[in-house]
Amino acid sequence: MSGVVKEGDQVLLVLDWRRKYLIKVKSGGELHTHKGVIRHDDIIGMPYGSVIKSSTGRLFHVAKPRLIDFIEKFSRPTQIIYPKDAGQIIMYADIGPGSKVVEAGTGSGALTAVLASIVRPDGHVYSYEVNERFLREAKKNLERVGLLSYVTLKLKDVTLGIDERDVDAVILDMPTPWLVVEHARNALKGSGFFVSFNPTLNQVSKTIVKLRESGFFDIRVVEVFEREYQVDPVALRPRTLMIGHTGYILFARRGISQ
Ligand SMILES: C[S@@+](CC[C@H](N)C(=O)[O-])C[C@H]1O[C@@H](n2cnc3c(N)ncnc32)[C@H](O)[C@@H]1O
Repeated sequence: MSGVVKEGDQVLLVLDWRRKYLIKVKSGGELHTHKGVIRHDDIIGMPYGSVIKSSTGRLFHVAKPRLIDFIEKFSRPTQIIYPKDAGQIIMYADIGPGSKVVEAGTGSGALTAVLASIVRPDGHVYSYEVNERFLREAKKNLERVGLLSYVTLKLKDVTLGIDERDVDAVILDMPTPWLVVEHARNALKGSGFFVSFNPTLNQVSKTIVKLRESGFFDIRVVEVFEREYQVDPVALRPRTLMIGHTGYILFARRGISQ
């Protein structure tokens, strides 16, 4: 990957921790912000990490965008999984290159994008969604980040069954995970992982009962808190506002009954 900005590159222009602009560099193009105009031609040829001055003299850093920068720009017909929760899911369900994962519901495709970026190039994500409009939006989002080829999007109610077999993990972000436990057991291979992200503990409780009945083991429930700090060396302290609640993550592993 080249270290300098080329025409056609996706570039992140960073003013500060809150104000970041994702652009596709095009000769003759301009970015208009409240802090002045930046001409794309002035960025072409600059090494990543450089500073560019806007028409009003404000300084922007020129950076390579991360997956999270693209996800933040996704069209979002649904609530999406936050990075703090996605990170836990990846680690504790042992998702890696080559993993075969079933996911439901697709929603805006945020978690789908994270999973696809991890399982590529040889793994695959099969993502179930009941809402046709959400599925269309997710498809566009995944296409934009170049991850669609690692995903099969399915317009299907996951409570009616999972078509795939020998999968490494079944990851749910939908309202009735307890109705999917039996299907997950049939789809998972060996001691594969069941994961469910739930906004309420009532959902978790119902699902735990089903998981126990179905022989799942190593059942864990976690809630992840993330506190961001204001970066000021003489007043280093947490930011005043934080996200109070996203959801509980339930993990379990498939067991074979005696
Ligand atoms: C909160 S959203 C998922 C967001 C997604 N994880 C993301 O990060 O973008 C929940 C989705 O589950 C879908 N859903 C609800 N019941 C479902 C079912 N039985 N089968 C498949 N999808 C379902 C909803 O239509 C909705 O899009």
